[in-house]
Amino acid sequence: MSAKPTYSFTTPIYYVNAAPHLGTAYTTVAADTVARYQRMNGYDVAFVTGMDEHGQKVADTAEAHGMTPQVWCDSMEPAFREAWDMLNITYTDFVRTTEPRHAKSVQKFWNDLYEKGFLYKGAYEGWYCVHEETYYAESDLEKNEEGVFVCPDCKRPVQLMASGEENWFFKLSDFQESLLKFYEENPDFIRPETRRNEIVSFVKSGLKDLSISRSTFDWGVPLPFDKGHVAYVWADALLAYLTGIGYGSEDRAEEFEAHWPMQYHFVGKDIIRFHCVIWPAMLMAAGLPITHTVFGHGFLLTKGEKMSKSKNNALRPADLVKIFGVDAYRYYFMSDVQFGHDGSISMERMVQVYNADLANTWGNLCSRVFNMTKKYFDAQVPVVPESAAALVASNPLKEIADELYEEYNACLDKVDFSGAAQAVQKLAGRVNLYVEEMAPWNLAKSEETAGELAAVLYNALEAIRICALYFAPLMPNTSAEVFRRLSLGDITAVDNIKEASAWGQLPAGNAVEVGDPLFPRLDTDNLPSVE
Ligand code: MSP
Repeated sequence: MSAKPTYSFTTPIYYVNAAPHLGTAYTTVAADTVARYQRMNGYDVAFVTGMDEHGQKVADTAEAHGMTPQVWCDSMEPAFREAWDMLNITYTDFVRTTEPRHAKSVQKFWNDLYEKGFLYKGAYEGWYCVHEETYYAESDLEKNEEGVFVCPDCKRPVQLMASGEENWFFKLSDFQESLLKFYEENPDFIRPETRRNEIVSFVKSGLKDLSISRSTFDWGVPLPFDKGHVAYVWADALLAYLTGIGYGSEDRAEEFEAHWPMQYHFVGKDIIRFHCVIWPAMLMAAGLPITHTVFGHGFLLTKGEKMSKSKNNALRPADLVKIFGVDAYRYYFMSDVQFGHDGSISMERMVQVYNADLANTWGNLCSRVFNMTKKYFDAQVPVVPESAAALVASNPLKEIADELYEEYNACLDKVDFSGAAQAVQKLAGRVNLYVEEMAPWNLAKSEETAGELAAVLYNALEAIRICALYFAPLMPNTSAEVFRRLSLGDITAVDNIKEASAWGQLPAGNAVEVGDPLFPRLDTDNLPSVE
């Protein structure tokens, strides 16, 4: 096992009734940004994602496509793997809930709770929404124009679950007080704060026991103590977080020890009750420690509406990657939508951010400075003579760079991606200004200012190296390319970004390659509409 400290987190595991869209890609890119940064920060990262394959919704979708559920799920795996590969996602485990290793976790976990006396058999009579895979009390439901009860979340008609269907129940109600105490003692467990308030008042209003099994269909993991029952899809899916770090696998016992409890579960705000009420209660019952923070991010909205497959406004990540490239895609969603709030996305805004931050600032900066290095120093990082050394030791770029680790790290710690992006942009923007102020083209006119010219270009190149380091979690390809053009090593090998970004480490004499523009300006007249 690695001697490094661990940093572990998850995305939700996604239902396979539909291919990945911008909403699911959003959480996944956010998690990957954390993964890449924390690796550069010296951590041994566990990043679990996967596919949620059981339950009635997926079974119904498979049937509608004339396939068995298993064949349907198998057919969906490439769509997820390919989307995540395209977006450069570096997950460490991809859990499919139909895998035998996961069935083993589910069975081990619920068997343990059964033996500990947290389960009982009873009749469930009540309402269920297949689309949300959620039970609702009648008082929570809404009625549509025809007077039919509909789901308060997705507005589809709900099903009345047959009276007399025997289910296994988890004694969730026993955990009301322990949960409230836990929230009180762990103020960071639910973030942002608004979501925390919502959960606390929900739990205070009283918890009902939770039906965790179904006997009327069989697309799920059979419960070991009552084989005629399969686990309720959420009683199965949440355990993927444990499966993904080796729970229940003898050969991964050490890994599980090292990575549990986790730092974060990143989830959308629509599924925080499962993560902040049911999940910690399950863990308490099992005697396992609880994840440090559940972060409930907001929704991406197009024209004010939540994007979703059913509303037909769900865009495919590939459509946007084709136009903007993968790094600009990642950058836009991480920098322009405040993680935790709903955010409106639009083609216009994507183009604006692309042109302002990437084409005009970051990309342009690299082109200018690399070109001047070619012109004035034969495409090599200049050697700064002693006479100009003071200009390297102290300059406005170094001042910003010296503060960058603290600022960026504080943002990433609270998963403020847009704050982190802005912190790097501040340095990049300042380098552009510095070049204007110092006007290397004037310094190049006289031998007397040759030392100064070397110092100015050295500073600009060094600041570019540092920007590349901090942009790497957001835009891995571009940063790797900038490192290559500066003849630096493999940026993904950096495991101490704080030290690596200390000022003055760019070796003089390194070859500098100008290359093509990193972010060519977009021809805004010819953009396809994606809204
Ligand atoms: N399978 C469950 C999760 C089980 S985790 C143990 C599930 N899957 S899902 O595919 O329906 O949704 C996954 C995530 O995508 C949720 O966190 C949801 O909030 C997120 N999003 C779906 N549409 C979204 C937007 N329009 N914007 C941002 N995120 C959205 O729920």
